[in-house]
Amino acid sequence: MSKPESPVRIPEIQAKKARGEKITMLTAYAAWMSRLVAQAGTVDMLLVGDSLGMVELGYDTTIPVTMDDMVRHTRAVHQGAPNSLIVADMPFLSYQVDIAEAIRNAGRLMQEGGATAVKLEGGRTVVAIVERIVSAGIPVMGHVGLQPQSVHLQGGFRRQGTHPEQQQQLMADAAALEAAGVFAIVLECVPSAFAKQVSQALHVPVIGIGSGADCDGQVLVTHDILGLSGSITPSFAKQYAQLGDAIIAAVNSYAREVRSGEFPVHAKKQSGNA
Ligand code: KIV
Repeated sequence: MSKPESPVRIPEIQAKKARGEKITMLTAYAAWMSRLVAQAGTVDMLLVGDSLGMVELGYDTTIPVTMDDMVRHTRAVHQGAPNSLIVADMPFLSYQVDIAEAIRNAGRLMQEGGATAVKLEGGRTVVAIVERIVSAGIPVMGHVGLQPQSVHLQGGFRRQGTHPEQQQQLMADAAALEAAGVFAIVLECVPSAFAKQVSQALHVPVIGIGSGADCDGQVLVTHDILGLSGSITPSFAKQYAQLGDAIIAAVNSYAREVRSGEFPVHAKKQSGNA
């Protein structure tokens, strides 16, 4: 039986860290998905990630994702889960060019998309932008470690923070983001011992992805946990269902029954709809 949607807000996310309770976050890109995750009632935050470009739009990277894509999909997620805490990604080049443009774009995700907060990638290089967006009243989540929008600069989707000097830089980035006012930070694909150090050093929650068990919370791409990503499922993601296989089986059954004439002759009415 589904539980009622829990109205988790940003101070509650921070209180969870203080109480030592793990924080849960999953991506959603469409109304049907956010409705189901909200119905489950166990996930604290929804992320409209720009991973949208890879898992829904078929791109190789997140770089082609536009502001209009993000606004449209954030709106859809909000329609499906109007009471959920929704974080929307600011896509590539929507915040780096000019601070006024960054504030306007962050504002669009809230005003037109219905987001509660925005997320942007980068460390000390984006601190001035984060400060201005936060001072405009828009909650910001940081994102360091593997930064998919910098995939070419980082030499591919590679583990980060593997050397002591890199770890020093990453720790300084995370601390600078905290000082700039982020309410939480995503830490992607760094060694688990280092992720533990970052989580312990910061007051704001650290939400890990591919960064081990000792972060304050975890985020994953929902397609990966549902078995919808095929052969490109990352090794750190656990599959809790095989919906890809279930979809192929259902499609084959439908096609077989249409060809044999079994459908629609023997279709059972399953709901009150037409
Ligand atoms: O775009 C996304 O889904 C993300 C998560 C991988 C953290 O940024």
